[in-house]
Amino acid sequence: MKLLVTGGAGFIGSNFIFYELEQHPEDTVVCVDLLTYAGNLETLEPAFQNERFSFHKADIADRQAMDELFEAECPDVVVNFAAESHVDRSVTDPGIFLQTNILGTQVLMDACRKYNVQRFHQVSTDEVYGDLPLDRPDLFFTETTPLHTSSPYSASKASADLLVQAYHRTFGLPMTISRCSNNYGPYQFPEKLIPLMISRALANQSLPVYGTGENVRDWLHVYDHCAAIDLIIRHGKEGEIYNIGGHNERTNLEVVKTILRQLDRSETLIHYVTDRPGHDRRYAIDPAKITEQLGWKPKYNFDTGMKETIQWYLDHKPWWENIISGAYQEYYEKMYAGRE
Ligand code: NAD
Ligand code: TYD
Repeated sequence: MKLLVTGGAGFIGSNFIFYELEQHPEDTVVCVDLLTYAGNLETLEPAFQNERFSFHKADIADRQAMDELFEAECPDVVVNFAAESHVDRSVTDPGIFLQTNILGTQVLMDACRKYNVQRFHQVSTDEVYGDLPLDRPDLFFTETTPLHTSSPYSASKASADLLVQAYHRTFGLPMTISRCSNNYGPYQFPEKLIPLMISRALANQSLPVYGTGENVRDWLHVYDHCAAIDLIIRHGKEGEIYNIGGHNERTNLEVVKTILRQLDRSETLIHYVTDRPGHDRRYAIDPAKITEQLGWKPKYNFDTGMKETIQWYLDHKPWWENIISGAYQEYYEKMYAGRE
């Protein structure tokens, strides 16, 4: 089987490429990535050693480039990770989120139709369901929870999901969608909560916790997310949506304190800053469908997963230091100006 993985130079896409190359020695993997600020070719270094892997730099929203790529590569399956993925950036500049996340998805699906791709898999997010109240721990997102988005990011992902379902119903596009909770693990860009806090704590810088720090996220190790997508593209039912989550709910404050403890840093580094506009309170996935229908179960629990992840960032300082020393610094100043 030949897989085309979009956004493979980012956090989850790169982990997925490593997973596929390792678990399926009979398959080949083609990666297409625009290498935006979030794409890091260095991450894919180990994949480049493998002759079953190839890379193309292109924009998924560029119709001509996608047509040429599909014509040349003839993929059997397309897994779409490519996206603008950071909520805070979508508050500052929504336009690119609509362009990449919605129009890019449409261009890819048109190419899938034209070149008879057997499966288009859309990597979506639990954020399409909006949020849950903090005082109702009995409530979870299921695949039938209505879409109710809060940020331009989640609205763009929900729009893409609707479009993918419309292409299935109208054109018979063979598709699946997965909606996953917050991922953590190796190679996450240090603008997201966990790597941001690790890198700042190590430098003894203040840790900007939004609002009261009581918002809850449902954390899943990226390896378990990749394993779930692998199952869906091989055994999932065409036209179906699958929620992915491992029942690992933590408040942001709990996550930050876990990091400080492991790094032996003081909680006085915690600095409460102005809340994110429209900040979702709680995400919590009910993974019953994928568990019962496809036999998926997470391998990691949060405590061991976090321990390993923090150690990974300690062992791979040059990877994230290179990022932080570049354009990211300017971004940080802009994003947090007037907030502290
Ligand atoms: P990321 O920001 O780390 O990586 C995104 C990648 O897409 C980058 O390599 C970037 O260069 C590439 N890209 C961006 N625009 C592109 C374009 N126009 N054409 C081609 N490539 C482009 O994101 P991530 O955290 O790895 O997320 C991957 C996917 O998973 C996204 O679709 C996201 O919505 C979804 N998701 C993420 C999480 C999470 O916790 N990170 C949770 C659920 C779902
Ligand atoms: P993030 O990693 O941006 O993921 P998402 O917004 O998609 O869930 O943020 C995770 C949580 O951490 C979210 O509730 C916002 C919060 N947060 C902070 O408190 N401070 C920060 O500097 C960042 C980046 C996030």
